[in-house]
Amino acid sequence: MTEILHDPNFRGFASDNYAGAHPEVLDAIVQANGGHQVSYGGDVYTARLQEVFASHFGEGVEVFPVFNGTGANVTALQSMLPRWGAVISASTAHINVDEGGAPERVGGIKLLTVPSPDGKLTPELIDLEAWGWGDEHRAQPLVVSITQSTELGTLYSVDEVRAIADHAHAHGMALHMDGARLANAAASLGVPLKAFTTDAGVDVLSFGGTKNGLLFGEAVVVLNPAASDGLIFLRKLNMQLASKLRFVSAQLIALLEGDLWLRSAQHANAMAARLRGALDELVSTGAVTGLRFSQPTQANAVFATLPAESIEVLREKFHFYDWDAAQREVRWMCSFDTTEADIDAFVEGIRTELATDARA
Ligand SMILES: Cc1ncc(COP(=O)(O)O)c(C=O)c1O
Repeated sequence: MTEILHDPNFRGFASDNYAGAHPEVLDAIVQANGGHQVSYGGDVYTARLQEVFASHFGEGVEVFPVFNGTGANVTALQSMLPRWGAVISASTAHINVDEGGAPERVGGIKLLTVPSPDGKLTPELIDLEAWGWGDEHRAQPLVVSITQSTELGTLYSVDEVRAIADHAHAHGMALHMDGARLANAAASLGVPLKAFTTDAGVDVLSFGGTKNGLLFGEAVVVLNPAASDGLIFLRKLNMQLASKLRFVSAQLIALLEGDLWLRSAQHANAMAARLRGALDELVSTGAVTGLRFSQPTQANAVFATLPAESIEVLREKFHFYDWDAAQREVRWMCSFDTTEADIDAFVEGIRTELATDARA
């Protein structure tokens, strides 16, 4: 028996990636074990996965399971662009700030980024970079990439996605969606996954599994085959093709075949809403001083600013990241396994640290 090196009862607010794997996902891996299956996706689980994704995103979609989100994004975008192509994204996009330059250096893709206060693009913001087609001196804007839910915990409505898709398509550009937290978006919007992806005009999707309880595993999903080419080769070329792919596919099936994806995302969102609601109450009643919210809470994250010394005190016990240290802005993230007791203890910790009386 291997020694347990960590405290399995400790949970913080740093990232939905800090959580472990959901027990139903681990069960699915065990069930997919045993015997021999064709490698590299020729297995029965990967075949079944195509049907599962079709049931959510529509007939004719194609799914390519990959290891991680950066790999999904780079591979998806590469499949949508010629060598001279560029991607318009928000400057806060994961592809721009958190992928180590992989889109540029591994994908060879020029990113054209636009500042956005809430992590969202609009047709007007897209237009700041959507120009210069035919100019040989400018990388050609051919794809718009948006994130749902965004890196700032905000959400596009169905109509907002559709407006961006229509705008992109009218200019001959395709639409990519980074859906690392797609399930959280669906849970919050209260609509099927298809409503704000396939039906809203998204062409290629990076579907997220890891943040929603998979051990690891994401997928590139081609919703519009006319907008993507060569994925089968690009996945291997980008080192994203697992030899024992059945285990990635089995996890994605466990997530999507029933309602695990929705249950887990609804829970994570509800925990963020509980945190935000309790803190709103403390602020509005004047029980705490120095706490402000920097974004609306629309999925499973709360963004706030507070005094630097209090950040360090609270971080010791509850673990979380700075988002913008210069602004004293932090991100508090909830997961499928965050409990109500975790939230209540955190709220109490914040209340004690920022208590108005304590600072008087
Ligand atoms: C918006 C977004 N996209 C993609 C990813 C996936 O990245 P990774 O390569 O770490 O799986 C993340 C993870 O933090 C993310 O927040």
